Amino acid sequence: MAIATAHAKVILAGEHAVVYGHPAVAMPVCSLSCEVGIVDSPDGLTSFVADAYPGRFLAGAHEEHPLSFLEDLLGWLFRDELPRWGVELAGPPPLSISVRSEIPIGAGMGSSAAILVAATRALFGHYGITPPASEIQRLAHAAEMGVHGRSSGLDVAAAVHSAPVLFTTGEPAVSLSIGAPFDLLVARSGVQSLTRKVVLDVLERRKREPALIDGLFTQMGGIARNLGEAIADGNLSGMGRLMNRNQELLADLGVSSLDLDRLVAAAQEAGALGAKLTGAGRGGCIVALAEPVLVATIREALREAGAVEVHEYHVDPQVVAGNVARDPVMRVGGCSGQPRPQRVE
Ligand code: MEV
Repeated sequence: MAIATAHAKVILAGEHAVVYGHPAVAMPVCSLSCEVGIVDSPDGLTSFVADAYPGRFLAGAHEEHPLSFLEDLLGWLFRDELPRWGVELAGPPPLSISVRSEIPIGAGMGSSAAILVAATRALFGHYGITPPASEIQRLAHAAEMGVHGRSSGLDVAAAVHSAPVLFTTGEPAVSLSIGAPFDLLVARSGVQSLTRKVVLDVLERRKREPALIDGLFTQMGGIARNLGEAIADGNLSGMGRLMNRNQELLADLGVSSLDLDRLVAAAQEAGALGAKLTGAGRGGCIVALAEPVLVATIREALREAGAVEVHEYHVDPQVVAGNVARDPVMRVGGCSGQPRPQRVE
C-alpha cells in the first residue's frame, strides 16, 4: 500500500506565455493538497474512487470516466516506465486507487497536475521505489500533456516544489528566494476554467495574429523575470505593479472574463498592491497581493464582488531547515516548507 500527496499552485506571472517558451512564476500552495492511495485490489478488479465523484470506476470498461486520465497514466507507467526501475510484470496487476483532494477542480490551481504527481509518487511507492523529484516531474508532465493537450509543465513543477519557482519549459525550475514576507488572497469566481479549451483557443488566435500574440507573450515573459527579482528583493510594490500589468496583457490575450475583471478590480480598489487572474483564465481564480493590514478589507471586497471562496496565504521567508532561499513557510496556509511526506506501507 502507498499513499502520496501533492499540492496546489497559483501562477503569479507568465501563464500562457510559458506554453511558448517564456518564463513564468508559480507559487506552491502547500495548504491545499490532494492524496492518492494505491492498494492491491481485494476483488481482482482495478478501480478508481474519488471524493469529488460518486461511485467506483472500473478500469478497462472502455468508457470515459472522470478519472480516465489516471487510468491512462497507470497503464503507461506499467508499460514503459516501471520496467526501467526493475518492476517487470506480465501485465498491470489489479489495484484500488483512491483520490482525496482539497484542490478545487477547474479553478486554475493545478488540481489535475497535483493528482498526477501524487498518483505517480504513489504507484512508485507501491513498489518501494522513490524516484527523484525531477523524474516524478518528467513523468507527471508527460501525462499532463495527455490531459491538457499542450502543457508547459509549470503546474507539475509547482506541485513538486515547496518554494516559488521561476520556470521555463525544458529547463530545471529555479527556486526563488523571498526578500520579504507577503500576503496573497486567492479568490474563486465559481466559474470553471477549462484549461485545455482556453489553451487551444490561444493557440488558434496565435495562428491568426502571430505578431500581436507573440508580442504579448514576450512582455509577459519579461514580467515573470522581473517578478522573480522583485520577490527576491522584497519589493512588494514592484511585485504588485507587475501583477497588474500582467493582468492587462492577459485581458488583451482574451483569457480574462467579466467575473475575473470584477474580482481583480474589487481587490485593486480595496488596496491590493496587485491582482490578476491565475491559471488558464475565463474562470477559476484571481490572486491578489496585499499588505497584511489590508487582508481583511480585501477579503471582504472580494466576497462582495462575488467570490465564492477566498483563501489567504502568508508567505514568509523564515528559515525552516536553515535555508532561507529554498524553504519559505506559508504560516497561515500551514505549509511546512517541504512537501508533505509520502507514506509507504
Ligand atoms: C495553466 O495552469 C497554465 C497555462 O499556462 C498552461 C500551461 O502552462 O501548460 C495556461
